Amino acid sequence: MRPLKPFRYRRGRLYCEDVDLEEVAQTAGTPCYVYSATAVGGNLDLLRSVFARLDPKICYAVKANSNQSVLRLLRDAGSSFDVVSGGELYRLERLGVEPHRIIFSGVGKTNSELETAIDRGIFALVVESPAELERIAVLGRGRPVRLSLRINPDIDAGTHPYISTGLRGHKFGLDPEDLPLILDIVRRHKGLELAGIGSHIGSQILDTDPFGQAFARIREVADELRRQGFPLVFLDMGGGFGIPYADEEPLDFESLSRRLASLQGDYRVVMEPGRFIVGSAGVLLTRVLYGKRNHGREFVIVDAGMNDLLRPALYGAHHEVVPLRESPAAITADLVGPVCETADFLARDRRLPRLAPDDLVALMDTGAYGFVAASNYNSRPRPAEVLVEGDRFGIVRRREELRDMVASECP
Ligand code: LLP
Repeated sequence: MRPLKPFRYRRGRLYCEDVDLEEVAQTAGTPCYVYSATAVGGNLDLLRSVFARLDPKICYAVKANSNQSVLRLLRDAGSSFDVVSGGELYRLERLGVEPHRIIFSGVGKTNSELETAIDRGIFALVVESPAELERIAVLGRGRPVRLSLRINPDIDAGTHPYISTGLRGHKFGLDPEDLPLILDIVRRHKGLELAGIGSHIGSQILDTDPFGQAFARIREVADELRRQGFPLVFLDMGGGFGIPYADEEPLDFESLSRRLASLQGDYRVVMEPGRFIVGSAGVLLTRVLYGKRNHGREFVIVDAGMNDLLRPALYGAHHEVVPLRESPAAITADLVGPVCETADFLARDRRLPRLAPDDLVALMDTGAYGFVAASNYNSRPRPAEVLVEGDRFGIVRRREELRDMVASECP
């Protein structure tokens, strides 16, 4: 199953839904991220329908795209949420998302983050180490705290090493050997309630097998804990559903759904998808500054850099480059940004049309882990974000201004 693609040419111009992207670039300036509201909601619906037999609690992973307008769409569509910081929790609270729709993951939560999560009474606080659980027990002071144990199942997700998280040797999840210690802490502290078991083995996974193996593993652990008298109610399979960025085969959701259903038993299933919901719903619009030929190699220099879109520099990630005006490919070039780093490329060795200064291109499938990883490196203000719905669009985050960048400095 492929996520929805709301971007297509009409009469030779690239549109998002019913909006001409050139008009967006004129209004919002470049670089800017553009998201389709219809695709965000539609991708959530796709997951709901393919997993209908599991009736899962879908907790959108806020880290993938935390713009409040995107979160608002998902809130209104009835989604739950997975957060990994006090900052993400704050965003949801501002939108009035109820605590029972929030789980809190992450390997290093601070005292104040834990305190807030306990105080609010969220759906589940995910535990990743005995030391963290000791801290939760102290901060809980006997108040009720619903816990989920994230197990490190030692399973290879077959994805990029930087986004694999479920192998021994990674910092994530509990070593199953620590379970007796964990259970002992839970038994000793009033208020601590073991509600679920989970794992998250990585991101951008396109094969069903690692998900199936990890889910079978957490089911085993859950059954064992029930035998020991802990009334576990849910199994959390984490996130990680991959999307095709180029010509990859999509993940076989139908067979994954059947496989998970065969392992579900009477447990509630929780999932934490991020990328699948927002990835294909967004593009980064950027404007050509110049072309350049260097020792025979062609470069197209654009006004977006690695500070705006980090994925190509960090993971060698591939994003299609699509000109806003349809035109045939004529050159092979690298699309690079203005940042002073050799890793500042957005695309390498691509067939592109001949692009002139001021031409516009879109970097496709950048709705997930795009803006959220943007920085001010090289003192570059972060880009604007725009939300499209039907034939309308609005700026949902204004472009940072130079004075925003220095506002919290005290020279
Ligand atoms: N749950 C947990 C505990 C996670 O750590 C993550 C992602 C997710 C859910 C959501 O995973 P998704 O469904 O989006 O794959 N910056 C990287 C991806 C990092 C993913 C981190 N954790 C990238 O640009 O590919």
